[in-house]
Amino acid sequence: MTPTMSASSRRSWHISDPGLAGSGRSKIAWAESQMPVLLHIRARASRTQPLKGLRIACCLHVTTETAHLMLTLKAGGAQVALCASNPLSTQDDVAASLVKDFGVAVYAIRGEDRQTYYRHIETVLASSPHLTMDDGADLVSTIHKHPDRFGESVIGGTEETTTGVIRLRSLEAQGKLRYPIIAVNDANTKHLFDNRYGTGQSTIDGILRSTNRLLAGSVFVVCGYGWCGKGLAQRARGMGARVIVTEINPVQALEAVMDGFGVMPLAAAARIGEIFVTVTGCSSVIREEHFRRMKDGALVANSGHFDVELDLPALRRLSRSRRVLRNGIQQHVLKDGRRINVLGEGRLVNLACAEGHPPSVMDLSFANQALACEYLNRYAKRLAPKVYPVPAELDREIAALKLKALGVTIDRLTPAQQRYLAGWELGT
Ligand code: ADE
Repeated sequence: MTPTMSASSRRSWHISDPGLAGSGRSKIAWAESQMPVLLHIRARASRTQPLKGLRIACCLHVTTETAHLMLTLKAGGAQVALCASNPLSTQDDVAASLVKDFGVAVYAIRGEDRQTYYRHIETVLASSPHLTMDDGADLVSTIHKHPDRFGESVIGGTEETTTGVIRLRSLEAQGKLRYPIIAVNDANTKHLFDNRYGTGQSTIDGILRSTNRLLAGSVFVVCGYGWCGKGLAQRARGMGARVIVTEINPVQALEAVMDGFGVMPLAAAARIGEIFVTVTGCSSVIREEHFRRMKDGALVANSGHFDVELDLPALRRLSRSRRVLRNGIQQHVLKDGRRINVLGEGRLVNLACAEGHPPSVMDLSFANQALACEYLNRYAKRLAPKVYPVPAELDREIAALKLKALGVTIDRLTPAQQRYLAGWELGT
């Protein structure tokens, strides 16, 4: 059942099918044991109510892991409204369970069109939030494009991903940012784990679920060697693929060389690659000149935030026909008969064709989100409208909690070592 928008505004949700709640509830329960840090924060927050009375507008991938973040914010006293941060990443059964079992206002339907996507964003913003929580900065950009309609009540925000932080820094540089935002992405316990190990594994997961291809021996081209690219290249190599990295940044290219990967321009990689994945955050990375060189049967996917990294209009222009071969695979037949297979419509393949990052790694990212909200509720009024890092003590607290949950203990500095590190006198 898809309620009409007018019905949904009365109901304060708009989801695909409330009848899917049972399946969503089981998946949410399954993820729980892998999210100990968030559960710890939730238990503490339900006692201390650090978010009491706060309204939070969230634009995130609607997944089992996000469900646990919503439950944590609610337990801390917040009222949350959630919409999708990508039209193709929503898990409809999880959305249903959030609405039916947990009373969360969700506006997200897998496969929603652009108009519905933005209508959901506007509906969430119409809840007069105090905080915005973004994954890609679509809430913030909507507020800044319509300052007369949205954002009056907002005191602060958080941002989950690299692409969103780049957009925020652009707003800040132009002197237009209206409120302080914490760049959750930049916390060590976020990007070193989620971007690297999360994207590494879930991107491979999306490729395997949609194609059932053997990676061993395949030529796997990773475009971009940021944290996501590093994780993906490492995991593809772990599966036996022959990995080539393409980069525009000489330092990152050098790092890829010394990590043992082949590095070359994409125009050269296009001729020999079999599987191509973009993870750059930039637009038109794989474009006409590259599609023209690719071998018959090439697989092309994107794992960057927006669906702009593959120039699909160019591929369509080069094609004489297109067909959907399997769930998540669109095959383009070029005029000379070569076939190029696009996964997940060029949207992030880990969420479009699989379930995104596993709960264990989202535990860290979303612990940062929850603690950043607590911090903003306490301090936002003292902060200027800038992009801020997650306070280092929160980052360390999250790492310590995860280690404890994993049963890992570590050493401490002795007093003599502390004195040594604090001094400058001792040399050779
Ligand atoms: N981003 C990547 N994976 C995710 C997940 N499982 N849940 C929410 N956001 C994500």
